[in-house]
Amino acid sequence: MDFIFNKKNNIFSKKEKKNNLKSEVKSHNKVKKYFLNEGENIDFLIMLGLMSEDGKIFKNSYNKFRQINKYLEFIDETIEELKSKNLIKNSLNVLDFGCGKSYLTFALYYYLKKFRQDFTFNIIGLDLKKDVIDFCNDLVKKLNYDNIKFINMDIKDFNGEEVDLVFSLHACNNATDYSLLKALELNSKAILAVPCCHHEFYDKISKNKSSPFYDNLKIMGENGIILEKFATLTTDSFRSLALELCGYKVKMVEFIDMEHTPKNILIKAIKSNPSKTYLKEKAEEYNNFKNFFNIEPMLEDLLKIYYKKS
Ligand SMILES: C[S@@+](CC[C@H](N)C(=O)[O-])C[C@H]1O[C@@H](n2cnc3c(N)ncnc32)[C@H](O)[C@@H]1O
Repeated sequence: MDFIFNKKNNIFSKKEKKNNLKSEVKSHNKVKKYFLNEGENIDFLIMLGLMSEDGKIFKNSYNKFRQINKYLEFIDETIEELKSKNLIKNSLNVLDFGCGKSYLTFALYYYLKKFRQDFTFNIIGLDLKKDVIDFCNDLVKKLNYDNIKFINMDIKDFNGEEVDLVFSLHACNNATDYSLLKALELNSKAILAVPCCHHEFYDKISKNKSSPFYDNLKIMGENGIILEKFATLTTDSFRSLALELCGYKVKMVEFIDMEHTPKNILIKAIKSNPSKTYLKEKAEEYNNFKNFFNIEPMLEDLLKIYYKKS
């Protein structure tokens, strides 16, 4: 090993430095495994205009591509979790509420078909917009996919069989709450919701003169941008607690990196079997939270409907 002195008379080893550099490069070169990879011919990505025929992701589609891959990682984790908890065996019924142009719904199909041959599955995507649903059903035909269909309907009006997985990704404002209600009614084993546009709480807390935003939290109430962020976090915390009260284990995690979209809180709820004591504690926590904000969330009205039916 050669030891040399640098200008500041600090001793270091030439060889060691080189080796360190190598391992750094090595660690940078570690390639993460993704479900979808550039260079592969991925039919739905080509048809949706994200990938060229020769497998290149178009420059302005990279964010979407990363988002889809990240989403598939969540799906994979969730399926493994459901399997390990014996909540599902070898079939999967999936509902995607507010599916939009359905990049993620088609990605889910591709993932199940290619990577989960241990499952039979059915997927339904649902959206208010007729043109979007026509587009998706047309694409299903072109891609020759089976066991997947799209329905033009309001989430509120959907009735169906029991499901295993309900998605509600970036469904606007209270559409998320209707998705949660439906997921509960259909006894979904898992719910993955990434809420979007939290107008309900923003309006309620900014207009409610007896909310803490006119008192102890005044500084937050006086600044729209802060209140908006706070409304988002408060709404999703309410949703999380409400799902816990309905017998789910809930985690709120980051869906995709902030730089890609600010709407990135994923509410992940997995059906569980909570004890009465746990539910009592959660009910108390929910009531305290609600009293603190002095607010009546719409989700609570929906849950009353759910409790009446069940
Ligand atoms: C922002 S897009 C998200 C699309 C897709 N889930 C995604 O993440 O790429 C929200 C979609 O939810 C649909 N939507 C909103 N409210 C709805 C409702 N009550 N019933 C059905 N669809 C709804 C809208 O039409 C829109 O296509």
